Amino acid sequence: MSAEKLYPVSAEWAARAYIDDAKYKAMYEASVKAPEAFWGEHGKRIEWFKPYSRVQNSSFSPDNVSIKWFEDGTTNVAYNCVDRHLATRGDQVAIIWEGDDPKEDARITYRELHRHVMKWANVLKSQGVKKGDRVTLYLPMIPEAAYAMLACTRVGAVHSIVFGGFSPDSLAGRIEDAATGVVITADEGLRGGRKVPLKINVDAACDKAPGIVKSVIVVKRTGGAVAMTEGRDHYFDDLAAKVPDECLAEEMNAEDPLFILYTSGSTGKPKGVLHTTGGYLVYASMTHQYVFDYKDGDIYWCTADVGWVTGHSYIVYGPLANGATTLMFEGIPTYPSISRFWDVVDKHKVNTFYTAPTAIRSLMGAGEEPVKRTSRASLRLLGSVGEPINPEAWEWYHRVVGESRCPIVDTWWQTETGGILITPLPGATNLKPGSATRPFFGVKPEIVDADGKVLDGAAEGNLVIADSWPGQMRTVFGDHERFVQTYFSTYKNKYFTGDGCRRDADGYYWITGRVDDVINVSGHRMGTAEVESALVAHAKVSEAAVVGYPHDIKGQGIYAYVTLMTGEQPSEDLRKELVSWVRKEIGPIASPDLIQFAPGLPKTRSGKIMRRILRKIAEDEFGALGDTSTLADPAVVDDLINNRQNRK
Ligand code: PRX
Repeated sequence: MSAEKLYPVSAEWAARAYIDDAKYKAMYEASVKAPEAFWGEHGKRIEWFKPYSRVQNSSFSPDNVSIKWFEDGTTNVAYNCVDRHLATRGDQVAIIWEGDDPKEDARITYRELHRHVMKWANVLKSQGVKKGDRVTLYLPMIPEAAYAMLACTRVGAVHSIVFGGFSPDSLAGRIEDAATGVVITADEGLRGGRKVPLKINVDAACDKAPGIVKSVIVVKRTGGAVAMTEGRDHYFDDLAAKVPDECLAEEMNAEDPLFILYTSGSTGKPKGVLHTTGGYLVYASMTHQYVFDYKDGDIYWCTADVGWVTGHSYIVYGPLANGATTLMFEGIPTYPSISRFWDVVDKHKVNTFYTAPTAIRSLMGAGEEPVKRTSRASLRLLGSVGEPINPEAWEWYHRVVGESRCPIVDTWWQTETGGILITPLPGATNLKPGSATRPFFGVKPEIVDADGKVLDGAAEGNLVIADSWPGQMRTVFGDHERFVQTYFSTYKNKYFTGDGCRRDADGYYWITGRVDDVINVSGHRMGTAEVESALVAHAKVSEAAVVGYPHDIKGQGIYAYVTLMTGEQPSEDLRKELVSWVRKEIGPIASPDLIQFAPGLPKTRSGKIMRRILRKIAEDEFGALGDTSTLADPAVVDDLINNRQNRK
């Protein structure tokens, strides 16, 4: 092993886990040498209505990108996540819901979940939803979000969840792109004691995308008074009272679409990542079982929001397919106190806790006492996702939160991958803080240089995946060409992740961050182009360039260079106005952290903005600007340096 600090697997974990190191190596080898046989066997972990005879049928060739798994099998996701468990675990708790207010919680058994999902499915049908239709969900973290997701899959509809923090504009764009006639929302959300005006936002989105939405189904969360448009808007309870209780699950082909989830890319509008039915569920459930070593009776908590892929795969689909008890949390880590996460762990005796590095870093800032005043004796395993975890945060998470007895699984994956691709397994993998370690079964990572040459052994370059896995996205909704261009045109016959990566001498992978124009703010993906187009939509802005810079809590912060229209003067007020403008256009997660007013941007003679220079200045590393001789006006660089906003 190399010099990094190593945390070996404990004897207890090696003995209790499904997979120890020897088993990992044997299974991994089998999975990449004979994928047909491997996935042919593991595909059976879900229940099929009609078994598949074909396992993998995929091509990464740029002139014919096509990905199919289990293509002649039929099944239903809601059936697998709910009905299948009724005979054996009908009275077991499926979802523990913990409200924003610690006094509010609920425990929903599989039998109750079944009743709710069938009711919801019939409500959807009453609104004309059929197999193949798209439905937008814009909901807080309440059990109804899971019911609505599962109800969509039960009737064969394709859900598109929009995170409740997105603005009406962003919501409208997604409603339009997916052409969703039905929107499911709540009167208001509750986060950290504050109300989120979800229904008001839906109304504004419907105005911005006129003629598309025919029905808005409103869940009463706070009971706050909201405007209801006659003929279009309905309270869920009123619709539910009029429909039957029972609803059979639709028979779906393995490759029928399951959901669309919009995510930011380096260019243009967010893309609708499309996942399908069979392969996704096999992969989400299998990774959930082995990565978290999920056993019957475990209480499992993933702190994500269902608006992100982590919530799809590791709050709802993976855990429920495995008959798990999954905790759903409506609130935030700091309300009503900074001990909230650990109070919830103690209250519900959580065994597995899965969160994002940004949360760890912000809690770390408040010191050890708020953690240590809680017990956390139930915790056995910790997880991390969404961005690289810096070794200091890893060590703190391990030592303070996990009292040095809980392994940490640092899981690397993406919206596009459907499930975890690179990760430790707690009974098999010796841990190195900051490394996502080794590939999951069936995953073939490679490191390539700028020319696409595959690098062997210890190496650093760009991360690609050489072959398909069942949870992989199938296309960009409505734009297959964009799918091909984004992921399969950079390196021939490989899936390009957009991430940089180092592999050490032990074969461990260390993700170094995005190598494209995507920034990762608090574990959320943001396209620089999206923030730029929001800024230039402001009447006083003539030009904008946005880059990421290192941020202590968020991982990366948003740094915007803004050139104003002739005659406009920079001011603190204008800076504030632009921040709130971007929040309104996209949502609070896109708020620029720093805005620099720049009379000019560094451009080549052909007019291309040299982002490399802007990134360096934003990092306060302007001593290493590299070659600036191709700039049309080298003098702009001095001005940018002199007025930089991030002085260390
Ligand atoms: O850069 C990687 C980073 O998050 C990106 C994917 O973002 P998103 O699609 O929003 O999905 C986030 C949740 C799966 C990746 O391209 N990323 C995610 N997990 C890790 C990570 N970077 C380093 N280590 C991780 N464990």
